[in-house]
Amino acid sequence: MNRRDFVKTTAAMSLAAAMPRIPGAYAQGSDAIRVGVIGSGGRGTGAAIDCLNSAPGVEVLALCDLFQDRIDASLKKIGEAHPGKASVTPDRMFTGFDGYQKLLALPEVNYVILASPPGFRPIHLKAAVEAGKNIFMEKPVAVDPVGIRSVLASSSLAQQKGLAVVAGTQRRHQARYLELMKRVHAGAIGELVGGQCYWNMGELWVKKREAGMSEMEWQCRNWLYFTWLSGDHIVEQHVHNIDVINWAFGALPVKAMGMGGRQARTAPEYGNIFDHFAVEFEYPNGARVLSMCRQTQGAAERIEERLVGTQGSALGFGEIRGPVSWKFEGAETNPYVQEHTDLIASIRAGRPLNEGQRVAESTLCAIMGRMSAYTGRALSWDWVANSSALDLSPREYKLGPNPVDPVAVPGFTQLI
Ligand SMILES: NC(=O)c1ccc[n+]([C@@H]2O[C@H](COP(=O)([O-])OP(=O)(O)OC[C@H]3O[C@@H](n4cnc5c(N)ncnc54)[C@H](O)[C@@H]3O)[C@@H](O)[C@H]2O)c1
Repeated sequence: MNRRDFVKTTAAMSLAAAMPRIPGAYAQGSDAIRVGVIGSGGRGTGAAIDCLNSAPGVEVLALCDLFQDRIDASLKKIGEAHPGKASVTPDRMFTGFDGYQKLLALPEVNYVILASPPGFRPIHLKAAVEAGKNIFMEKPVAVDPVGIRSVLASSSLAQQKGLAVVAGTQRRHQARYLELMKRVHAGAIGELVGGQCYWNMGELWVKKREAGMSEMEWQCRNWLYFTWLSGDHIVEQHVHNIDVINWAFGALPVKAMGMGGRQARTAPEYGNIFDHFAVEFEYPNGARVLSMCRQTQGAAERIEERLVGTQGSALGFGEIRGPVSWKFEGAETNPYVQEHTDLIASIRAGRPLNEGQRVAESTLCAIMGRMSAYTGRALSWDWVANSSALDLSPREYKLGPNPVDPVAVPGFTQLI
């Protein structure tokens, strides 16, 4: 995987719409989209509702989650939003670490939503592609380089099998971002020479460990705070902004130098992640982009991308400043719905979209930033992508003990 391949692939993907129809790409014999959700929490439930809102002929047939209480809550919510559109009988509800295999074995399900914590995504994606399903998968798509290589292999297999893969980096389906990128790529701000991107916000939900809860159950319920499950918040959230920068440059960073720590959020319920990061990404043309993210209550908030060119600057959400000034004023659809509309249209047209590689690459950029901040080392893309052996998977997937790594300390934490 090198930069040239990335640029080639990105160009190929933008041509996807013009590609010839793949015969049999939608081999189920009808236009019906029959959805199974793996990871029926907040976003899995939201994505199922968005999918029902996105096109006619959609039905939710099966739900999987580690825990039955999450399935019950999800089914209730989907049923309230779309009465009669979620016919999930108890024999199509699956719990436990192997629940995904049972859901994927249902021949009637032809579209799966993968929305468990990202640590499981490579495993779930591989199985979904092998089972021949079309896929909507939430970002991020892995938490370590080993997982990313698996996602790249699965995405390539999906391409060969004519299966669609769309990722939850919804800015790629959002009119204001699409309009901006058209202009940036046409040279509206000249050559890109720098940029900034941010996901600085307060705190998210946290779940304390309850009496009787095993380590593994608690980690999976409180997954945001364990690097093996979430990738840390730079990967879990900031991937959105980093993806926008990669999109603008049409390239991947060649180097990253990051720092970060855990200063305000040190209680045990915050697991082993950091609460702030700052990373400098260097792009192939020498441009440097500053990336910043934090989850700190009571501190300044900003979620944004900014591009600096030789002839002006641009803001991701649709504004250009400089000689050619412009502001997005068009109509916008809900991007969380639009991503399903686009995915379903591509399946029905026999021209399946495949966003697997590009979301894997943007996820890896965020992972590279985290690895640099955790270890204190400046890293190259080529080494992280091709040589790092970091694999954060637990020894076994079982509700029981699961000791985790200590909080990283730059300069001491080993680079793997
Ligand atoms: N695109 C976006 O803007 C956006 C917004 C929110 C979340 N997300 C992403 O969606 C994913 C889910 O986040 P969420 O907010 O819904 O979290 P959540 O905790 O509400 O839901 C995750 C669910 O997965 C379940 N789960 C855990 N391990 C599982 C396994 N092995 N098999 C099946 N289910 C398992 C959990 O029990 C939980 O119900 C994450 O990747 C997150 O980054 C994306």
